[in-house]
Amino acid sequence: MQPTWVRDPSLAGEGVQKIELAESLMPVLNMVRARLAVEKPFKGITIAACLHVTKETAVLLRALRDGGAKVAIAASNPLSTQDDVAAALAAEGFHVYAFKGMSTEEYYTAIGYVLNHNPDITVDDGADLVSTLHKIYHGRMDSTSSIAAGVVGVEKVRQIARKVLGGTEETTTGVIRLKALAREGMLLYPVVAVNDARSKSLFDNPLGTGQSTLDGIMRSTNILLAGKNLVVCGYGRVGSGIAERARGMGARVTIVEPDPIKALQAYMAGYQVTTMAKAATYGDIFITATGDINVIRREHIEKMRDGAILANAGHMDVEIDKEGLRKMAVSVDRPRPCMEVYRMADGRHIILLGEGRLVNLVCAEGHPSEVMDLSFSIQAESIRYIVENHENLAPEVYDVPSEVDKGVAYLKLKSVGVELEELTDQQKTYLSAWFYGT
Ligand code: ADE
Repeated sequence: MQPTWVRDPSLAGEGVQKIELAESLMPVLNMVRARLAVEKPFKGITIAACLHVTKETAVLLRALRDGGAKVAIAASNPLSTQDDVAAALAAEGFHVYAFKGMSTEEYYTAIGYVLNHNPDITVDDGADLVSTLHKIYHGRMDSTSSIAAGVVGVEKVRQIARKVLGGTEETTTGVIRLKALAREGMLLYPVVAVNDARSKSLFDNPLGTGQSTLDGIMRSTNILLAGKNLVVCGYGRVGSGIAERARGMGARVTIVEPDPIKALQAYMAGYQVTTMAKAATYGDIFITATGDINVIRREHIEKMRDGAILANAGHMDVEIDKEGLRKMAVSVDRPRPCMEVYRMADGRHIILLGEGRLVNLVCAEGHPSEVMDLSFSIQAESIRYIVENHENLAPEVYDVPSEVDKGVAYLKLKSVGVELEELTDQQKTYLSAWFYGT
């Protein structure tokens, strides 16, 4: 069995320092970890994770290990791994299969390696681990799952699929894929949708992605946002967070959104709302956050201004038609890390950041630790919930139990010294009764 696969083990010292910094900003996860360390609910449990390998993920993995788990982790994006953190985790004995700049072949080989550990629990961010396992189990093999199957063997994957107790999923795109699996009756074990917990999605998605997306754009371009026409495609939790932060920095924000309610929300929040075809003519910066495919296409790129910048904040690298952009270009330059400049035959140049992959993780460091404190505390508690309750769970997608969701919010408030108002008995009765009228 491959023990680890990282870029440069000598970076471990730097990685440890970064993990310690993150730890100092994640008080809730530290509290969760302290309890896990005493109660050891994961004793004898092997966890296979497919997560972005960042300093915050390292804090989560340490908590799971202290709870008794053996942990193997593959990257959940070919470009998001922080190599020093991966080296530090490997030095601490975690089975890490991740480095920045993996090819598709390497990415799915790493997924094969984590499956080889015979997991009891899967932890996913984007559902590549679960979907690979399900493709192999159900004989729906494609080019990527064949790579993983080549590492583990089809029969062993089938055995693993039958023994997994359950899983968790970190992100919107992953939950959508899992619900599709469940709808088709193909989901093999229960999965908790960590993404949908209120303590996660009301903070991580708008604030975490909102800030780190702009961080990624600024680090890779050093552009001034004030006065720029910034187009956000998608006004969901992530898009609305990006828009709000960009406006706060002085950008003139336009929203492109097909859903009438979300578009109306954007309009009432004071944004310009229009179609992609129109926004394409005047935008300086375009950010996709839709979860859908081909949101920015050739017909849009053809109309864009010279110097337009394209970035993606959605989980998959399918929102911007990279292939189309490549075909339109006569040459490509890489003047800065994370930036590709495509020169068009008509003399314009169009700038693509982070190869159209998650700009916040590829060109910056992902969500700040303070917000991952919430998301990963929910993760740890949800894993525990599955380990302790799997016998009563069907192969469906479950919400995070409300007491876990509220409990994490409560601990976060406690960590920042905020006191909660308590309802009187009279107020509680009033809120639950039907007979009080006007
Ligand atoms: N997803 C977004 N930001 C992240 C981070 N900092 N660590 C792990 N996963 C993330």
